[in-house]
Amino acid sequence: MNALCENLHAANEADKAPRHIRSYVLRQGRVSNAQHRYHKELMARIGVPYAPVQIDLTAIFGRASPCIFEIGFGMGETSAAIAAANPQNDYLGIEVHTPGVGNLCKLVAEAGLSNQRIIQHDAVEVLRDMIQPGTLSGVHIFFPDPWPKARHHKRRLIQPPLVALIASRLAPGAYIHCATDWEDYAHQMLEVLSAEPVLENTAKDFAPRPDHRPLTKFEQRGLRLGHDVWDVVFRRRHELL
Ligand SMILES: C[S@@+](CC[C@H](N)C(=O)[O-])C[C@H]1O[C@@H](n2cnc3c(N)ncnc32)[C@H](O)[C@@H]1O
Repeated sequence: MNALCENLHAANEADKAPRHIRSYVLRQGRVSNAQHRYHKELMARIGVPYAPVQIDLTAIFGRASPCIFEIGFGMGETSAAIAAANPQNDYLGIEVHTPGVGNLCKLVAEAGLSNQRIIQHDAVEVLRDMIQPGTLSGVHIFFPDPWPKARHHKRRLIQPPLVALIASRLAPGAYIHCATDWEDYAHQMLEVLSAEPVLENTAKDFAPRPDHRPLTKFEQRGLRLGHDVWDVVFRRRHELL
């Protein structure tokens, strides 16, 4: 490839994969021996390596079942509890933080779960590059990093471009469920999801906590601090307007 072709190739690749502001900062965080061991053993079985290639969810889970995509599972307690309580569904959890990935691997192994897979990568890139349009039955975003300082609000996950991307990956009738204990972020979620024409609210505004969402570590801490919790649940319309 000559220099001009190389430049054109690079520009095309950049167009296909525009850079975006990261919604996370990779913390070093201590990885315990158990997390390290389970990460090594389990990711070989239930880990899906990131690649900019669309995946076949049926092949990844070995069956055709509703697939729920989770962005930022943290230490994975909620993910493992939901996967255990809903063996009829498959769960694809995305997280960048190694101790959290190791911990979910440990929980999956201990509970013998067969319906959880993990991708350790930026969820925005996974959605954009790996998930085929119209294939997800649900998306969970529980207690995303609140980025409370105004100058950091651009790092918040729930913004129009990501919501449009998520909406495009949902099957008709599929849901997106967000929860937060930050009031202004809760209103941002409601506003941004309401403005996405492909989605409709399942409630008048905030939704009651759906039974499928157990209390998370972050939520318990928030409740102890006297914070409220807001759930926002929208569905992809069957008929586009
Ligand atoms: C505040 S924690 C909440 C964790 C968990 N959902 C809970 O409720 O306990 C947010 C998590 O999202 C992860 N995260 C943020 N942006 C992400 C992204 N773009 N892709 C994958 N993980 C992300 C962070 O690493 C962090 O672990």
